Amino acid sequence: MSEEFSFLKELGTDRSSLIKGLQLVQQKEGYVSDEAIEAVAAYFGMAPAEVEGVLTFYAQFKRIKPGRFQISVCDGTACHIKGSPQIQQWLEAELGIKDGETDAEGRFSIQVVACLGCCSLAPVMSVNGKVYGNLDRKKLVRVLNEYRKM
Ligand code: FES
Repeated sequence: MSEEFSFLKELGTDRSSLIKGLQLVQQKEGYVSDEAIEAVAAYFGMAPAEVEGVLTFYAQFKRIKPGRFQISVCDGTACHIKGSPQIQQWLEAELGIKDGETDAEGRFSIQVVACLGCCSLAPVMSVNGKVYGNLDRKKLVRVLNEYRKM
């Protein structure tokens, strides 16, 4: 096993620890790469296709490397009523990516999430955990431009 995935050794090699192993990978790398699948499969004595099968079953696992700026767009009830589908459309148009995708430069990624816990500011999104509320198109573009400069 490559040094990179040696942290798996803290788990036993019993397959019942597979999910835990994948969670560890995602925690350390931010996603589960093809290389990680190979390493995990070899570690648990499984075929890579079996590990991929498990990954597709659980929505918690990301297969695409997240961007440097991870945008979470809220689509909870309050945000939905206040127009979050429109926010999502504007974001997709601005960045050229959809929910669950990362742009070609590896700069932005978008994920649609349930309530971010600040419904009074609806519609809301966060970038790397920083919350932006009362969004309209103008504010959205202003926020994106701030991150484009970084
Ligand atoms: S519904 Fe969007 S923050 Fe609660």
